[in-house]
Amino acid sequence: MLNKMIFGGLSMIFLSMILSCSSQSVDIHDIVVVEPADQDHFSDAFEINQTLGRGINLGNALEAPNEGEWGLMINEAYLDEIIQAGFESVRIPIRWNAHALEMFPYSIHESFLERVDEVIGWALDRDLAVMINIHHYNELMEQPQDHRDRFLKLWEQIAAHYKEYPEELVFEILNEPHDNLTPDIWNIFLVDALAIIRQSNPKRVVAIGTANWGGFGSLQDLELPANDRQIITTVHYYDPFHFTHQGASWVGSEADQWLGTTWDGTDQESAEVDSDFDAVEEWARNHDRPIHVGEFGAFSTADDLSRERWTAYVREASENRQFSWAYWEFGSGFGAYDPGTGTWRDYLLRALIPDSPAIE
Ligand code: BGC
Repeated sequence: MLNKMIFGGLSMIFLSMILSCSSQSVDIHDIVVVEPADQDHFSDAFEINQTLGRGINLGNALEAPNEGEWGLMINEAYLDEIIQAGFESVRIPIRWNAHALEMFPYSIHESFLERVDEVIGWALDRDLAVMINIHHYNELMEQPQDHRDRFLKLWEQIAAHYKEYPEELVFEILNEPHDNLTPDIWNIFLVDALAIIRQSNPKRVVAIGTANWGGFGSLQDLELPANDRQIITTVHYYDPFHFTHQGASWVGSEADQWLGTTWDGTDQESAEVDSDFDAVEEWARNHDRPIHVGEFGAFSTADDLSRERWTAYVREASENRQFSWAYWEFGSGFGAYDPGTGTWRDYLLRALIPDSPAIE
């Protein structure tokens, strides 16, 4: 790990030297800043998707403006809890854009990079596969063209830094593109970002989600480079939204009117989930892509029994179709784990990992 950090650090310095000599108008596609890693032995995207298997999001930590500001600091013991509960992977949302220079060359702060290294290391050391992303780059959603170069430069640095990491580290290009980052613009940006990543990581598996907040409904708009087979397609699932987001302040005041919505697992409710997942499965078959359900969860304002039923149903819907998944999230408002008491919420853990040894 230390070697990797030193190597990563050196490549960052090298990168900064080259970029500081170049003008801002340089076409970044033409700058090959690092040697590509040897990844010929890497498993294919379907195998890596199986490795991701059952996962959980370490949400509300590294994607807060600063870690801790949303109430959660990741500590090493959490990774022990996660592996012992039977999860196979963690998705780590990361707000890189809050920890990098605003101006060219957009260097990522060294201390933040080290913190991310630490958390990734804790997970990999325990044989948890890891997905990292760029999360909450809100300015990119508002002004995509103005932030395009910075977004790509972030990926250039992240990809170079982690290029020697094992294949169990997966990059997800961007969480939930939305607003002015329209499906058409996203189809262009994802190709650009993938090209940057491929300069240093020729075979690492990259997860790519859909526009319009990552929903399955936007799969029809998604255009992936046909010749790159090391891609996992990722979708998020929060339907029925009035159930999963009842009382969620960030959605708006109308969410309070949804309080009390239950999910009873009626034939009709179940059929709606089935039909959504069938549509994803059909898309996956037609496009020959593995699927990862990167987020699904119901906020703690819903009643426990409904949350358990819905979570179990969606988890089964994923597994029946060989989709890997990551529950949203570990220890905050949707939390399967209660950091206050240091215990899992059994009804949620049961829904996620029915035979978990951590269930009391
Ligand atoms: C967002 C979170 C939000 C969750 C559910 C995630 O993608 O990053 O802030 O809590 O979706 O709405």
